[in-house]
Amino acid sequence: MKTVNVRYDDGERKDRGVTKYRTDQDWEIWGKENPYFGVLTDPIFLNVNLNDEALHAFFTSGEKHVENIYQVIRTRIRSDFEPRRVLDYGCGTGRLVIPFARRAQSVVGIDISPSMLEKARENCSRFAIDSAQLLHLDNMDSLEPGSFDLIHSFLVFQHIPVVRGEALLQKLIGLLADGGIGALQFTFAVPRGVLLRGVTAVRHRSRRFPGSRNLAKMRT
Ligand SMILES: C[S@@+](CC[C@H](N)C(=O)[O-])C[C@H]1O[C@@H](n2cnc3c(N)ncnc32)[C@H](O)[C@@H]1O
Repeated sequence: MKTVNVRYDDGERKDRGVTKYRTDQDWEIWGKENPYFGVLTDPIFLNVNLNDEALHAFFTSGEKHVENIYQVIRTRIRSDFEPRRVLDYGCGTGRLVIPFARRAQSVVGIDISPSMLEKARENCSRFAIDSAQLLHLDNMDSLEPGSFDLIHSFLVFQHIPVVRGEALLQKLIGLLADGGIGALQFTFAVPRGVLLRGVTAVRHRSRRFPGSRNLAKMRT
């Protein structure tokens, strides 16, 4: 298996780095009470603020993200990349399932939260997408091994404890077709304590190192 690391930042979630793990129940609560904000934590996506403009921004961000994924794969890995069968793992409200479905023959979206999946179904209908299948994680084993040309996940693994995430990743790799491509986002960080300790030490050693002040304010 060949791995290509891509530093990815589309400016969507600058406020979020490695966040604390959320439980499956937490996600169902987000799915039920504030699904769009559960996906992108900008106050414009809270139910109380949600309007046509906010929804437009929400779905446009998904379109842009998917366009970027295709572009990166075509530039860095395979210029004729044209996946027929796509899996979006942790699909939430279908923000990315919809643009994938516009490009591929079929898309499967998997999520842990039944309410998120319900919202994703609603959104697929809203955009007249009928080639998307939305599945609960419990039904993932019903998918045929080696049957996806592209397996994608964004803003998901950072919320899953490592051991569980590793097992899920193994399953996803098993679903990838020969020659298929995985575009999976994992966030990582320098432990903040170590960074801050290092910066503090530098600062103490050299009062003439103004840059270190800014570094000390940096968040991981
Ligand atoms: C921040 S949202 C991102 C949704 C979507 N990927 C997007 O970018 O629009 C994270 C999603 O991952 C789902 N999720 C969390 N843990 C999961 C798990 N173990 N398996 C599948 N989905 C999970 C949540 O229910 C939620 O819908």
